[in-house]
Amino acid sequence: MSKFDLVAELFQDIPYMRQFEAEILRDLILQEGARKIIEVGFYQGKSSAYIGAILEDQGEEGSLLTLDMASARRHRPNIEDLLEKAGLAQRVTPIFCKRSYTWELQRLISAPERPLFDFCYFDGGHTWDSTGFGVLLIDMLLRPGGLLLLDDMDWTMSRSKHYQSKPELLRKFDADEVESKPVRLVWDTVLTHLGYEQVREYPDAHWGLARKPF
Ligand SMILES: C[S@@+](CC[C@H](N)C(=O)[O-])C[C@H]1O[C@@H](n2cnc3c(N)ncnc32)[C@H](O)[C@@H]1O
Repeated sequence: MSKFDLVAELFQDIPYMRQFEAEILRDLILQEGARKIIEVGFYQGKSSAYIGAILEDQGEEGSLLTLDMASARRHRPNIEDLLEKAGLAQRVTPIFCKRSYTWELQRLISAPERPLFDFCYFDGGHTWDSTGFGVLLIDMLLRPGGLLLLDDMDWTMSRSKHYQSKPELLRKFDADEVESKPVRLVWDTVLTHLGYEQVREYPDAHWGLARKPF
């Protein structure tokens, strides 16, 4: 059995990445020959396990660096449990951030040898600030021609269950920001400013795929 099928079977009841999305991701990673992958937002590690499995099934070099909050360790099961169970711990390195991935990305950017990635799956924090700044930082870590896959293109604060359950959080935002789609705004403004090609959208997955200029 392939690792991909193993992950699909073992973790079918775990949120979030769905199998049809993982299949799209597999096609993209294989078509691109992507070996060095970074993921922003792993939650319980399901998408990370899928990406690790895709790399493992290729049978060559390939690794995933993935970031989330330190609190993600408290999920039961958590990413470490999933990777251990699927035998993928050697392919995937989780980084547990004390405050935000933005600071951990700074550490990568400032490292003596800045890593460069072929592919980024961006699925963490959907607000204007976290997505806009996160994407700018990721741009500094993507190789020319690298791919950026954004999740939740149509997310809004007004429709978010989290914000609906805590309406007091919305008071500090203007009404147009509450109704805005920040990920799509970043796609339309920041990525075009950086010269990215909008390769395509995957409406069923709420994804947008963009390519950094060569
Ligand atoms: C939708 S979940 C990721 C799901 C995962 N990619 C999957 O498909 O299985 C989004 C994650 O982003 C993380 N996140 C949001 N803002 C963050 C920040 N500023 N720093 C680190 N992690 C953040 C959240 O903790 C959450 O676990």
